[in-house]
Amino acid sequence: MPKVAFITGVTGQDGAYLAEFLIEKGYTVWGLKRRTSLFNTDRIDHLIKDEHEVGDRRFHFLYGDMTDSTTIIRTIQQIQPDEIYNLAAMSHVKVSFDIPEYTANADGIGALRILEAVRLLGLTEKTKIYQASTSELYGKAQEVPQNEKTPFYPRSPYAVAKLYAYWITMHYREAYNIFACNGILFNHESPVRGETFVTRKITRAVARISLGLQKKLYLGNLNAKRDWGHAKDYVEAMYLILQQDEPDDYVIATGVTTEVREFVRKVFAEIGIKLGFTGSNEQEEGVIASINNDIFEGKVGAKPDHLRAGQVVVEVDPKYYRPTEVDLLIGDSTKAKTKLGWIPKYTLDDIMKEMVESDIDLMKREECLKNGGFKIVSRLEEKR
Ligand code: NAP
Ligand code: GDD
Repeated sequence: MPKVAFITGVTGQDGAYLAEFLIEKGYTVWGLKRRTSLFNTDRIDHLIKDEHEVGDRRFHFLYGDMTDSTTIIRTIQQIQPDEIYNLAAMSHVKVSFDIPEYTANADGIGALRILEAVRLLGLTEKTKIYQASTSELYGKAQEVPQNEKTPFYPRSPYAVAKLYAYWITMHYREAYNIFACNGILFNHESPVRGETFVTRKITRAVARISLGLQKKLYLGNLNAKRDWGHAKDYVEAMYLILQQDEPDDYVIATGVTTEVREFVRKVFAEIGIKLGFTGSNEQEEGVIASINNDIFEGKVGAKPDHLRAGQVVVEVDPKYYRPTEVDLLIGDSTKAKTKLGWIPKYTLDDIMKEMVESDIDLMKREECLKNGGFKIVSRLEEKR
């Protein structure tokens, strides 16, 4: 019998990569999906097969919400999963300051609902649980780098909600002997990263600026440093965590940290634009120092006629500042490397390159559609 996995948050970045990964491993995957007024399954459309056309389906949806206990219990009862990956969350740190109560409910109590369902349904011997914990728990970091023993100091309603989820997961492991684990994952990105997280916001904007569809990129705190990995590597770690003999918690990180400002610089450099930063705080600006036409044309497929040295393409807008910031995250994943044999394959340069290339393609396709399929292509052709 194939193993059965239940993924909450299956329409999100990690849910999509994990579903694909588990299906390749032979699992039958059930995903929890919120009802939305428009389709939001772009990331997993390739996994969805029409039941009228395909007999043997490995991927299924069920409607539900992390704030709705009865549905979660009914769903888990119906599926009888071997593994649950609880990835659903209101995952945006800045937004959590605007909707703290909802965030606590979905991200904090949501984790409890899963654990309680497994306990109530008598599945404690059968079902393993992965809880999507986060490096945001370290917040005002008490130690550099951060490992499994570093004390937590959350700095947002999101992180506080996730702190509850972390401890309740550990508590159910100790109190009821459930195979429940926390993956303390540092930031991980990909071409399907949500558009309002900083890396994707940057790669999208650079793609749009390169095509003349946007003039400037507005950002918040450029000084923040993050340990960025690739979501594909990180979903493999989630799987490995649940394949161990004993349940445990693991830090998953690359061990390299990079400033937001440096990430911006690297993404522009990827398309042949050298960027310099001048000014400080809210007056800081990113200015084009020079353009390498050959690299630009090779990457973008057009000439950079609308761009010139001295042009300001990045500005700071304080509306993106957070009431409290997490300044520096860098993880030490020695335990994961030693016990799980987990080693990330992607470097930050690989990730950034993949993301910007994918966004250039995406923007061209979107513009093509908007313009009836012709104008952008001919505009690009004209410029060649
Ligand atoms: P994401 O792209 O924002 O996806 C979140 C998923 O949760 C989406 O499928 C979303 O559904 C779903 N969701 C949100 N609220 C829900 C609710 N009330 N009921 C049911 N589903 C709900 O996040 P991600 O980057 O894939 O991250 C996955 C998990 O890992 C999250 O728990 C996040 O907090 C955690 N995490 C992420 C990172 C990272 O760097 N990516 C690092 C550490 C931990 P919709 O599509 O309908 O919005
Ligand atoms: N989103 C965003 N937008 N962030 C910006 C911006 C901006 O315009 N300008 C600067 N930043 C800074 C933020 O202040 C933060 O310090 C950093 O860029 C990263 O922000 P995000 O990409 O939004 O991610 P995050 O680190 O707050 O949270 C992500 O990673 C966590 C793991 O550490 C999310 O995926 C969380 O769900 C996850 O738990």
